[in-house]
Amino acid sequence: MDRVRIAETLDFSRIVYGMWRLGDDADTSPAHVQAKIEACLEQGITTMDQADIYGGYMAEEIMGNALRAAPQLKDKIEIVTKCDIVVNAGRHAGAAVKHYNTSRAHIEASVDASLRLMGVDKIDLLLIHRPDPLMDPDETGPALDDLVAAGKVRAVGVSNFRPWDWKLLQSRMTTPLATNQIELSLLAHESFVNGDVAFLHEARKPIMAWSPLAGGSLLAGAAPRVTEKLREIAGVDGVDPSSVAVAWLLAHPAGILPVMGTNNLGRIAALSEALKVEMGRERWFSLYEAALGHEVA
Ligand SMILES: NC(=O)c1ccc[n+]([C@@H]2O[C@H](COP(=O)([O-])OP(=O)(O)OC[C@H]3O[C@@H](n4cnc5c(N)ncnc54)[C@H](OP(=O)(O)O)[C@@H]3O)[C@@H](O)[C@H]2O)c1
Repeated sequence: MDRVRIAETLDFSRIVYGMWRLGDDADTSPAHVQAKIEACLEQGITTMDQADIYGGYMAEEIMGNALRAAPQLKDKIEIVTKCDIVVNAGRHAGAAVKHYNTSRAHIEASVDASLRLMGVDKIDLLLIHRPDPLMDPDETGPALDDLVAAGKVRAVGVSNFRPWDWKLLQSRMTTPLATNQIELSLLAHESFVNGDVAFLHEARKPIMAWSPLAGGSLLAGAAPRVTEKLREIAGVDGVDPSSVAVAWLLAHPAGILPVMGTNNLGRIAALSEALKVEMGRERWFSLYEAALGHEVA
């Protein structure tokens, strides 16, 4: 598995495993979560994507329970987590309105909770989950710098930011932002042409792609022409159509890290198959045109 430089002294696996749906699995036992992490590690997938809010603020603890039962895993993985979304659930039960919070106090409290719930002494990468219209960059930027200086967080980045959001936050920080985690898939490809990918590509920042299978809908009939094309190519290469959908992202020269969300152990064990799919320009465009619903001009 290729490794991608995220920050000085921090590398991620090219494919990342996402834990948004961890709490949706009927089995959230430490042994089952350990089995998922080990199935990733066997393929060289070492990077785990979390957020404070996942599973109603429970997913970090579910993973932490596995790490407490099998502490040897801690040194084999990199942990990404996020903060700033506040919703009426878990430790934020009682929040009257769903909102974002990029204040220093909120970020610091969230990081401390993440460290405690996951049972680790540092977070490899902390992301601001969504752009906050009330973000004060003079407060948020230095708060992120201070978390890095304190050794609680090794690197910081953002998620769902537009280029102007990125520039505003970066202008008030000394730590370079490491990445932007954005939605990218054959059903969400606008970022390839609206400047979001170009901005990160120009800055040589790796891009993390969330919901690379469009949350499963890519393979569940939401876009029949795309599904058909994925199946056709998969049949030729002898892989699962999901691997072709991921290869479509991997082929982009900007350097995209797909964040995969399956809870199925068999599917987890096959995630690295995507790296084997040949994705030449014509194949890439045949999928893109199926997604657009027409030929490119
Ligand atoms: N930064 C953000 O704002 C943000 C937002 C959303 C997600 N994320 C991150 O991105 C990760 C991935 O998101 P995601 O879970 O939506 O990713 P995804 O990989 O696009 O979708 C996963 C879903 O697709 C289903 N699936 C997988 N393979 C399938 C197949 N071959 N056929 C049919 N269904 C299939 C899975 O079901 P099974 O479990 O049954 O396989 C699962 O429900 C999350 O875990 C999270 O870490 C970040």
